[in-house]
Amino acid sequence: MGETAPSAPQQKTRLWPLAVVALGAAAVTFVAVALLTNIFERKHTEVTVARVVELTDTTYDAATWGLDYPAEYDGFLATANFTASGHSTALVPAVAERVVAGDDTVYPDSRDQTTASKLVADPRLVTLWKGYAFAIDYRHLRGHQWMLTDQRETLRVLARQQPGACLNCHASTLPVMEELGQGDIEAGFAAMNKLPYAEAAALAEHPVQCVDCHDPETMALRVTRPALANALTALKASQGIADYDVNRDASSEELRSYVCAQCHVEYYFAGEGKTLTFPWADGLDINAVWQYYSEVENADGTTGFTDFTHAITGAGVVKAQHPEFETWSAGVHAANGVSCADCHMAYQTVNSQKVANHQVTNPMADPNASCGACHSQSEAELRQRVDVIQNRFVDSRDRALDALTQLIDNIGQAQGVSEAQLDLARQFQNKASFYVDYAYSENSYGFHAPDYLQRILSQSLDAARQGQLALLGMTAEQLAASDVALANAEAADGLGI
Ligand code: HEC
Ligand code: HEC
Ligand code: HEC
Ligand code: HEC
Ligand code: HEC
Repeated sequence: MGETAPSAPQQKTRLWPLAVVALGAAAVTFVAVALLTNIFERKHTEVTVARVVELTDTTYDAATWGLDYPAEYDGFLATANFTASGHSTALVPAVAERVVAGDDTVYPDSRDQTTASKLVADPRLVTLWKGYAFAIDYRHLRGHQWMLTDQRETLRVLARQQPGACLNCHASTLPVMEELGQGDIEAGFAAMNKLPYAEAAALAEHPVQCVDCHDPETMALRVTRPALANALTALKASQGIADYDVNRDASSEELRSYVCAQCHVEYYFAGEGKTLTFPWADGLDINAVWQYYSEVENADGTTGFTDFTHAITGAGVVKAQHPEFETWSAGVHAANGVSCADCHMAYQTVNSQKVANHQVTNPMADPNASCGACHSQSEAELRQRVDVIQNRFVDSRDRALDALTQLIDNIGQAQGVSEAQLDLARQFQNKASFYVDYAYSENSYGFHAPDYLQRILSQSLDAARQGQLALLGMTAEQLAASDVALANAEAADGLGI
């Protein structure tokens, strides 16, 4: 491991979530008190396993770690299994010979089965992303063992040009970055990002491994992804904290979510170097992210980042992707110090040892295990709570998606409309698209932060309808938020509406 290798995070006590919970409990009900008792009991156990083999920073293969930690390794291997959810109920046979419109190549598929296509289930998405790779192949997610295979086999990679930066979240990248940077991780990161995808992927052997989340000597959690380390430094700077170093400054409790935030976040590739970047320098709220993208300086002197030009309308559009971490951050669980691992890697007992379930999967596969440590409701009640949240989410999401596809059709068919009106309508399309996409590609169907996602969907719906009004001749001034609304938004989060 080179000199810029991530250092072990310091073990600290879990003070901040307890403090927040304690305040909440004082103010709220006995329910919170009951929950609190449970959280206090959830201190993690020290790892006291006698080692069979020595583990170092170059022990890349999880199988070797598995000799020392068989229970965690069993869970890890189980990420190859498919876990059904209400939205993704079964795998489907892979199509051996795939074709893409306007392309003579036949693309084979080495997989026997894939997850179901979201584009087939919801053709509105094809309209949303017309002209972009996502409109040709977009599927449900599955377990971590599949991340590298599913990326190598997607038509988004085979039929379109992609950079090595894609690899950051789909492989165990330490060996790749080490090799390319000759021991210097940041240099290796830069080199990997700008390689053509196939060249970078040829250097990768495994999907995410133990070494990506754990320090081999202490087993403490750590961040090995430069993009997250850099993004947290920028985010903390925006909050007045200088020189934040996640592996030095984060608590072990925070790391139980940060290890996931290495990948489950909105991202873009910045500049010619295709540098994987999380757009957090103005904050984590979607309004701050939107502002960030609108201020990006492009190489050609223009301002504002977009991923693609929409094939029907000509609008520049930003594509959103899986912002689970940012969304969770805005929810009630994060506010109470409940981490990703609490629900997705709940403790189980194996041979009388307390083991975090390393089959990181859908918590609703076993609500008693995932939620039961804090919630005393029956399994049926827990399912009902989640169903209600998700059904309301889908209802609002569908209104927003319908409105946006109508706007896209309207712009495409517009006649006798001035260039200024069209431009304004396209700007509203971009905003409506990014906002609904953010909520849609967040994979919890509303659960991680129900009210926050409802706000985002209402912003999307509003932008889509405003785009239609722009086509009818209303100006930006006429459509602007009222002074009262602006003042309220300013007072609430300072970001405008
Ligand atoms: C910042 C981390 C990150 C980067 C960079 C990234 N992905 Fe992913 N990708 C994820 C996560 C997390 C998931 C699972 C969540 C989901 O499916 O929405 C995923 C899912 C996928 C899937 C399976 C579901 C689907 O969308 O069909 C494919 C294929 C995929 N990514 C391809 C790519 C390609 C191609 C690139 C480069 C353009 C890329 N990824 C870059 C994090 C990333
Ligand atoms: C190296 C990047 C990376 C890291 C780190 C990571 N994920 Fe993932 N995760 C992915 C990708 C990519 C997929 C989708 C794989 C596919 O569809 O082929 C995924 C899939 C999932 C799934 C779906 C599993 C299933 O069985 O359907 C869940 C849940 C999940 N991740 C949660 C987490 C949590 C919680 C953490 C932190 C403990 C985490 N992930 C860490 C990249 C990552
Ligand atoms: C309070 C519990 C809880 C916490 C904390 C939590 N999640 Fe989830 N997560 C859920 C539930 C419930 C679902 C919805 C599952 C469903 O649709 O059936 C979900 C869905 C997901 C999915 C889609 C899984 C699938 O199989 O469809 C991913 C990926 C995910 N969460 C990642 C994360 C990440 C990353 C974090 C932390 C930043 C996190 N979650 C925090 C409970 C939680
Ligand atoms: C995506 C990140 C991630 C990966 C990959 C991962 N772990 Fe973990 N691991 C965690 C988290 C989160 C915890 C919970 C830590 C805590 O409680 O503070 C954990 C806990 C542990 C612990 C402490 C005991 C326990 O079970 O709570 C051991 C030992 C461990 N993991 C071993 C492994 C091994 C071996 C592998 C590879 C086969 C692995 N981990 C892969 C995130 C990961
Ligand atoms: C580590 C503890 C912990 C775990 C695990 C946990 N929760 Fe919670 N949950 C909380 C706390 C704390 C609150 C906030 C209670 C309050 O403010 O009164 C909460 C609140 C909720 C709420 C109310 C949400 C809202 O917006 O008001 C729902 C619904 C919920 N949890 C469902 C779940 C489900 C489903 C799971 C399992 C997938 C789960 N929780 C796992 C601690 C937990």
